Amino acid sequence: MPHSEGEVRMQQPSGAQPSAQPSGAQPSAQPSGAQPSAQPSGAQPSARPPAATRRSQELFARALRVLPGGVNSPVRAFKSVGGQPLFIERADGARIYDVDGLSYLDYVCSWGPAILGHNHPAIRQAVTDAAQNGLSFGAPTELEVRLADKITSFVPNLEMVRMVNSGTEAVISALRLARAYTGRQKLVKFAGCYHGHSDSMLVKAGSGALTSGVPDSLGVPAAVVADTCVATYNDLDSVAGLLQGREVAAVIVEPLAANMGVVLPNPGFLPGLRQLCDEYGTLLLFDEVICGFRLAKGGAQEYYGIQADLACYGKVIGGGLPVGAYGGRRQIMEMVAPAGPVYQAGTLSGNPIAMAAGLAQLQLLADGTVLAQIGQQASRLAAGLRQIVLDLGIKACVNQVGSLLSLFFGIEAAYDYDSVQQADTGLYARYFQEMLARGIYLAPSQFEAMFVSAAHSAADIDASLQAGSEVLQKMKGEGLL
Ligand SMILES: Cc1ncc(COP(=O)(O)O)c(C=O)c1O
Repeated sequence: MPHSEGEVRMQQPSGAQPSAQPSGAQPSAQPSGAQPSAQPSGAQPSARPPAATRRSQELFARALRVLPGGVNSPVRAFKSVGGQPLFIERADGARIYDVDGLSYLDYVCSWGPAILGHNHPAIRQAVTDAAQNGLSFGAPTELEVRLADKITSFVPNLEMVRMVNSGTEAVISALRLARAYTGRQKLVKFAGCYHGHSDSMLVKAGSGALTSGVPDSLGVPAAVVADTCVATYNDLDSVAGLLQGREVAAVIVEPLAANMGVVLPNPGFLPGLRQLCDEYGTLLLFDEVICGFRLAKGGAQEYYGIQADLACYGKVIGGGLPVGAYGGRRQIMEMVAPAGPVYQAGTLSGNPIAMAAGLAQLQLLADGTVLAQIGQQASRLAAGLRQIVLDLGIKACVNQVGSLLSLFFGIEAAYDYDSVQQADTGLYARYFQEMLARGIYLAPSQFEAMFVSAAHSAADIDASLQAGSEVLQKMKGEGLL
């Protein structure tokens, strides 16, 4: 199973080999001090010759000596697309700037939190203001109450939340709570859904698996994942099969799957999950780390009109700082310590700087204008990519919802883990490198989403489509597609 900023666990490629340095690369027109507002984007392709990333290469060599794989989160290492990672010096608006002075139109957006674009002035100001008062107190603050108020007002059936420091932590804590509340042990997750790197969620998804899990990483005790059952996304029968005769505490799902590339729930899937969970006395847990406060103000629960029992958040509510949260109905949440017997704690939880950043971010998302705007830009990007694919007669498909999208190579439909496993990661790697050479920074894995932010202009979308068209024509000309 793939994942954002965690790991690439999908099987690796057939097809074309990643080319670390595409031919035809041009020196960048972007000096490191270039102003993002001045450049409508990847409009001027900033392709790079091999020497252009020398400083990134030097830093990577140094990093390899002191950081495992040279990074602090696996997907950043570019392993599934080849080449070496770029080291980023700064980011502003829709662009990131590397240590060699090249700039890129960014569709990673810090894997989600930069929903307003990088370095947004209101968030920067909120962080700077909060920092004047000290960085961390280990005691309650007004800021955390205000952010909790804001989150619970955005998501109507979320009555209480607990702040944590990451999505992983939110999921670990919510699962413990679900087990305590139901008095049951077993969990159901879906193949291809990522929920952070906790032991019980690191379960390799076998094809059509309806069995107990097998650890997906060394170091995960088999006994821990023995209680994790893996169902098939968009397949309610696979869920019913697992709920029958088992005492399942929670079904955890990415309501919109974004960690096997973007995979949409079929229309009856989420209502069906709600119904099955009600039938079997199982809690429905929405992992909204990617889609919370992005698909809609109230996240996937609002967007799809389904009420989950518990929900997990991350990324977006920190505005770029490390924050996560889990929440749900009062009756369940009041089991969390010190209100109740389920222990969970965190020295830096509710950190004032992070709370201030989150508040500023959510404030700007409150009226829904930004979400509507980024959804429209992403729809235009998806429609444009589909048209290019159609015109060139390429076997590929584009999934998009809200501001998230994926272009899958070599398959005509992506609707679950097995279908996306057939995607051609070698072709994606080549596409990635060619786009990078044209100044467009995509996720370094076929199985990650593209994130569109409020800073992506119409000109940026046009430039991205132009670059995409050029690259796909080139690949087709070379007989790869
Ligand atoms: C859906 C989902 N859940 C959980 C996580 C884990 O969040 P974090 O990386 O903040 O621990 C991620 C990370 O990408 C995610 O996409």
